[in-house]
Amino acid sequence: MSNYHIKHLEEYYQIYRKSVNDPELFWEEIAEEHFLWRKKWDKVLNWDFRKPEIKWFEGAKLNITENCLDRHLITRGNKTAILFEPNNPEEGALHITYNELYERVCKMANVLKNKGLKKGDRVCLYLPMIPELVVSMLACARIGVVHSVVFAGFSSSALATRINDSDCKLVVTTDGSFRGNKTIDLKGIVDVALKECPSVENVLVVKRIASKIKMHSGRDHWLQPLLDKASAVCEAEIMDAESPLFILYTSGSTGQPKGMLHTTAGYMIYAAYTFKNVFQYKENDIYWCSADIGWITGHSYIAYGPLANGATSVLFEGVPSYPDYGRFWEVVQKHKVTQFYTAPTAIRALAKEDLSYVEKYDLSSLKVLGTVGEPINEEAWHWYDDNVGKNKAPIVDTFFQTENGGIMLTPIPYVTPTKPTYATLPFIGIQPALMDENGNELKGNQVEGRLCIKFPWPSIARSIWGNHERYKNTYFSAFDNKYFTGDGALRDEVGYYRITGRVDDVIIVAGHNLGTAPIEDAINEHPAVAESAIVGYPHEIKGNALYGYITLKSAGEDRNHGNLRKEINQLIAERIGPIAKLEKIQFTEGLPKTRSGKIMRRILRKIAHNESDNLGDISTLLNPEVVARIIDNALIAV
Ligand code: WT7
Repeated sequence: MSNYHIKHLEEYYQIYRKSVNDPELFWEEIAEEHFLWRKKWDKVLNWDFRKPEIKWFEGAKLNITENCLDRHLITRGNKTAILFEPNNPEEGALHITYNELYERVCKMANVLKNKGLKKGDRVCLYLPMIPELVVSMLACARIGVVHSVVFAGFSSSALATRINDSDCKLVVTTDGSFRGNKTIDLKGIVDVALKECPSVENVLVVKRIASKIKMHSGRDHWLQPLLDKASAVCEAEIMDAESPLFILYTSGSTGQPKGMLHTTAGYMIYAAYTFKNVFQYKENDIYWCSADIGWITGHSYIAYGPLANGATSVLFEGVPSYPDYGRFWEVVQKHKVTQFYTAPTAIRALAKEDLSYVEKYDLSSLKVLGTVGEPINEEAWHWYDDNVGKNKAPIVDTFFQTENGGIMLTPIPYVTPTKPTYATLPFIGIQPALMDENGNELKGNQVEGRLCIKFPWPSIARSIWGNHERYKNTYFSAFDNKYFTGDGALRDEVGYYRITGRVDDVIIVAGHNLGTAPIEDAINEHPAVAESAIVGYPHEIKGNALYGYITLKSAGEDRNHGNLRKEINQLIAERIGPIAKLEKIQFTEGLPKTRSGKIMRRILRKIAHNESDNLGDISTLLNPEVVARIIDNALIAV
């Protein structure tokens, strides 16, 4: 018998030991007892990190939607699956039962089929946080189509890059989205993107804000009339355990985003099992994750993980500040939310506002609080614990990545004693290692190094879409036979982990994973710019903000710097999205470089962190003289 619910610390250690001593037996028991299979596997695990190749449950056949929908219909058909809370509270919440969700998914799947989509094709979902997004994901999975959800805050060029990278045949979008007191013209963004996307044959448009939009005849179709005509019966396509389920893009060290490829069985098992334990989920709980489905957190912990457990998952369209800063807590009170999962940046923003916004509401239903996406500072942790959880709801600081599919380091609430700013212990089946710069594993406690994982877990991404070589180079080349996260971490005296932050070219801004390269590429497109370098620096609310060092071509030197700043940020907003705008811009005469011409970001980072008295030896630089000028001018950077 496998133990699906961890109840005390001793049991955690016991299950953990079992999961690392015999991972195949451990995951086989979980798979056997808690999921629905059309055919069982021939082999539990086949792996080689050096190739790299990872296969879980080879030979097995299943459909993830039968696990998320069909099997619940008899026992939970009338239970709410998705509890939709719209942007405007006056619109009223919508309870979508498992029966209703099933029917909507089948109809949507038939619409996709009628548009000619077949197993293995890719569909891009560029949608706000509305039920149609979850329905579309599941509809794709129902017929073996691979979904690629693109966060609806990305610009048209970022969207086009992602559509083209995976040759999506169809896009699902809306006539617009609500965001606080604003609306956003998503269809207009799609129209611009599609000028560069030859693979897209059809666009399905959800009517959400009832705005006047242009429909391109032959290509664009309102979704509702198609759904009205579609059959409510759709047999699930029988998939292989390792069939692609979805692609989700994340930034990397070049301008081209990485399409992380997740497959079916292992992803499902790990998302479901982590959900159950990390949130200590019980049958009648009302669970709410406020992340956007455009990120991995939403895929695993709004959609697949909760639905595989037959849970009620709140889907929130709005923002924390609309109609006022009490919105999160109003929703918690209204729906008697039992688990609430959000990002440190949201907590910090709300902690700045008057406490009365929290105190006004009855939050006594909350049993577990979660955070994810970036390190949480001590102050924010305590604010959350004191004012939201009233010191009664344990906080789970969960560490994971798009590449991981599910939570990797986390306390188990009511089981693992928490410690502010620590993600604490590895989840079941996760074997972390801290490495020094020479590639040696740091054994024992009280050590700090680079965070790697030594053994595959079921939901690790299997590849980068169309570029397996890049997958190998990015994750499996820095340390032999290990997956490298790109993060630094320390292990304290009792073996608890604390993430210290990225050690590569990725900067986490307000929980968004941004690569420096695509931002620099955007800046360098400006005709007055010669070159640029981006670094992160600490920011009160966003955790990190972006600091750009920009050298102008001589022709640009006469220009008004105030205008240039605006134009550069405008360019970034167009190329990537407003989330990637620079907080500070410093115009420089040159950037510090090694003799081989590589920009020394380490030095720029120190200057942005106000640590310029601690730069180390800079005499070996190609141009050490520029450093003093940069330090002097840093004081006036705006
Ligand atoms: C990076 C991954 C996983 C959901 C959204 C982010 C940082 C994530 C934590 C945490 C400290 C964290 C890491 C990681 N990160 N969770 N609990 N404590 N840092 O997914 O966009 O792929 O970003 O987010 O730096 O590498 P992502």
